[in-house]
Parts: sequence; C-alpha cells; structure tokens
Amino acid sequence: MSDPHADAQLSKLEILDRKNAEALLGGGQIRIDAQHKKGKLTARERVDLLLDEGSFEEIGKFVMHRSKDFGLDKEYYLGDGVVTGYGTVSGRLVYVFSQDFTVFGGSLSETHAEKIVKIMDLAMKNGAPVIGLNDSGGARIQEGVVSLGGYADIFYKNTLASGVIPQLSAIMGPCAGGAVYSPAITDFILMVENTSYMFVTGPNVVKTVTHENVTSEELGGASTHSAKSGVTHFSCANEVACITHLKQLLSYMPQNCEETAPSLPYEPQGDEQRAVLNTIIPENPNQPYDIREVIEGIIDADTFLEVHKNFAENIVVGFARLGGRSIGIVGNQPAVLAGVLDINASTKAARFVRFCDSFNIPLLVLEDVPGFLPGTDQEWRGIITNGAKLLYAFCEATVPRITVITRKAYGGAYDVMNSKHIGADMNYAWPTAEIAVMGAKGAAEIIFKREIAAAADPEAKLAEKVDEYQQKFATPYRAAHRGFVDEVILPAQTRQKLIRAFKMLENKVDVLPRKKHGNIPL
Ligand code: HXC
Repeated sequence: MSDPHADAQLSKLEILDRKNAEALLGGGQIRIDAQHKKGKLTARERVDLLLDEGSFEEIGKFVMHRSKDFGLDKEYYLGDGVVTGYGTVSGRLVYVFSQDFTVFGGSLSETHAEKIVKIMDLAMKNGAPVIGLNDSGGARIQEGVVSLGGYADIFYKNTLASGVIPQLSAIMGPCAGGAVYSPAITDFILMVENTSYMFVTGPNVVKTVTHENVTSEELGGASTHSAKSGVTHFSCANEVACITHLKQLLSYMPQNCEETAPSLPYEPQGDEQRAVLNTIIPENPNQPYDIREVIEGIIDADTFLEVHKNFAENIVVGFARLGGRSIGIVGNQPAVLAGVLDINASTKAARFVRFCDSFNIPLLVLEDVPGFLPGTDQEWRGIITNGAKLLYAFCEATVPRITVITRKAYGGAYDVMNSKHIGADMNYAWPTAEIAVMGAKGAAEIIFKREIAAAADPEAKLAEKVDEYQQKFATPYRAAHRGFVDEVILPAQTRQKLIRAFKMLENKVDVLPRKKHGNIPL
C-alpha cells in the first residue's frame, strides 16, 4: 500500500526507485502469494510472457485512484489495479492492459478506466492491436456511478475501435458484471480452464433470482462458454497456453484495417499436388468425413488455428496459411450433424467472416452442406434471422473469396455458402459435388409423387427416379455449364489452384455502395 511518509529520508533518485519497487508489488506480497496459490500469474508476469523480452514500456505506473469513500482515502496502490503500456509480439507493436487482481480484486475505478482508455486511444491513433488481460471483480463497488461511467467509456472506445484495430481479450480470472461486456465487444475472447469465469451476475444472485443452484464453473467457466454459449472462442488449459494462443492468433492478423496480414516467405516444396485429397470423399454420399482432413490437405503444414473449436461443431472456422499467406477458412463439417447449417453454426461463421473482412484476410469456403436444419426448435428460435446473418456477412465481404464445393451444395445453403451469386470471386467444384435444390431422394419423392404412387412397384419406381435426378443434378456440371462453377477440378489440384487464384486476387478492389452502415439482421 502506498505510504505518503515513506520518502522523507530519501534522495530524489531513491524516491523514484522506491516508488517503482512499490508499483511492482501491486496489492502486496501476501496477495501475490494468494494469486499464485490459485494457480494464477500476476498481471505483470502475464505481460512479461506475452511481450518480446525487454520490449514493455509502461504507461501510468504511478496512477492512483481519487476516491475518499468507504476508507479508500487510506488505501492507495500505485497503478490502481491495472498495468498498461505497449511493447512488441514477434517484433510487432501491440498495446496491452493487464488487470491486477491483487489490487481491490482488479476492480475498475475511474482512474483504472482512464488508463485503459488512454492506451486504446494510442492504439487507434497508431494503428496497432489492443490486448486485454482481464482479471476483475467488475465495477469498484466503493466508487459507485463513477466506476460505471469508466466502464461505459471503455465500451464506447471498444466499439469505435471495432473493425479499425484488432482487439483481443484473454480472461484470466473472475470477470463479473461490467468486466464481461468490454471483452464481448472485442474480436476474440480466450478463457483459461478452471481459473476464469465470465458472468453478468454470479451464482449467488442467480440463486436469489431464479432459485437455481449452479457453480461458477457451470455458470460461466471456460467449458461452458466454449461449448454452450459460444461466448469464448478459445478454451486454454492454463495461462501459459492462453498467452501462446494469443500470440499465434496475432500472427494471422494485420496491425489494422488499412494493412494486410504479414505473409511468410513461400517456396513451393514440390508437394502442390496433394493426392490424399482424391480419396477423402466417401463413395456413399451419406457417409460422413472430417472436413479438417480436407483443410490439412490444402494448407501449409501445421498452420491451422481453429476458432470456436467446441461450439457449433457442424461448421469449422479458423485461420491458416496458404503459400505463406494468411487466410480465413469456413468449412461445413459433414462429420457433425451432416454439416447442416443451424442457428449456432450460422452466427459462428458470420462473426468469423466479418472479422476476416474487417481486416483484409481472404476467405476460403469449403462447402458440403445438406441445407438448413428443419424443425420447430430452430424456427422458433429464429433460424431465419440467424441464417440471414451468414448470408449478409458473405454478401457484404469485399476480401478475395473462393469457394470449393467438395460434395453437397443443396438449397438455400448453396446460395449462402459464398456462392458466385453473392460475390465469390472463384468457385471450384470437385467431381463429387452435388449442386441441387435438395437431395435426390427428397426431390424424386416430391416431383414424381403421382408417378411413384401409380407404379406397380412404387419402390422400384422411386429408385429409378432418384437415379434419374441424381444423374441430372447431383453433379457439378449443370452449375459449370452456367458458369456458376468456374472449374471442376481434381481434388489433388486444389492447393495449387487456390494458391494461384488467391495470388491473382491479391489486388482486388471492391467497393460497397455509400451508406452510413448496413443493418445486419441481429
Ligand atoms: C471492490 C472488490 C471487488 C469490487 C472484489 N474486490 N471485487 N473491491 N470492488 N467489485 C476485492 C475484495 O474486497 C477483496 O479485497 C479482493 O478484491 C479479492 O476479493 P475476494 O472476494 O476475496 O476474492 P475471491 O473469493 O476470489 O472472489 C472474487 C470475486 C468476488 C468473484 C470477483 O470478489 C466478487 O464476487 N466480487 C464482486 C463482483 C461484483 O458483483 N462486481 C460488481 C459487478 S456490477 P481484499 O482487500 O480482501 O484483498 C458491475 C456493473 C457494471 O460491474 C455494469 C456495466 C454494464
């Protein structure tokens, strides 16, 4: 705790030394030990792990709160519960704030908020990402509305910065109340398993209001938010893994919306033809396969960083490198629910598409989709509005966009999944592609209903009609004749084709009509 009389006997240089040492201790050694005992790092240890060694420059180290109520006039800590500044990650500038749980539980005071806003303003003016390492009990209760105002200032800045600079939030402790809404506005949230929580109201309030008994982990732990709610994009085994993920994530992004993501030097390795891709699609069109095998077969080795891995697993999204370039991938996942589009899959993919488009990351879509999921549950919860989010996100995206139809492209989902009609630049299909209004059996049952019913052997008739429909429509060729598919390619050629096509599209300019902003179906 800061002692105003501690400097009486010291020289001016010694005073600075003493203050610096005091600031490094945050809320004091006892609380630091308590933090370590919980398996958590301190705010400063996290910053050190994140940034290149020796690159951190702190801003606002001696800031103190201005409160006088509830005994706070006798309790001051240098830095006021948040470490802020700038440094580099792999040589690239980033701004960082790291909340210090040892000081009033990392709670947000007026001055704590001002420090965060200050680095956000710098980040905006200088065009570099902001990384928040969050560990906070929410609004500093002793400060009342002043603290609420501080949160609102941050939310406002988060919103203005959205789409201008990448904003990443790591949740590394309890984050309650206002502490969750700032991360929610940012681009990506990472949580640490078993030591981090996010909730608007904690288990005690839940019990009072809804009479539910729920633990913090069940209510808002990493497993809940990565699999059930989708609030977090990454669930990390521990803090070190979380910070490693943050760095990896940054490597696929540009510094701001005016730049492109850094490319790695690329030399063809003689493996541009990938024969393994020829054998992934099963003979039986109803048999599942893992779209990740297709992704791995196309991209540069070991470069896939999957986002939202445990949420809406019927669609796979993530970053990768192709010929050294950063790309965003959206792939239907036939191994889960046959790759159908439902509410969660649509919102997951829509958010990812918008991130990539905001930051000039080209999009690759791998399509194998039987359609939208039917049923009352989906309809009543708004599959129409939510499915439209994905449609809207693709329609509005101006980055280079390429689709590869590996198998099914049925119904509305054909349109939605980055079809040429909604602005895809190139559309390839594998010979196994089936581009039709629906599957052959469903189609035959509808359009040949009377003929089948009147037949001496209805089953044989149905089989004959299914076959007829399949021959005509369950291929890529009708679409290719129309130019809706640019080329039907051997799967093994996919990597080569995509590297060339993305290179061809690298200077793409596409301008949307002038408007204030669109009205995405939220
Ligand atoms: C001031 C706080 C605090 C807060 C914790 N502390 N939260 N001080 N304001 N919001 C202090 C404690 O007094 C304690 O001080 C130290 O931080 C550690 O807290 P503990 O409770 O001992 O730790 P732990 O058991 O780990 O529990 C952590 C916690 C719990 C889950 C975060 O402290 C908690 O529930 N806090 C309140 C959360 C909350 O309701 N916040 C307000 C939300 S409303 P000492 O001196 O003992 O170290 C809000 C409105 C904004 O945020 C809305 C904007 C949209």
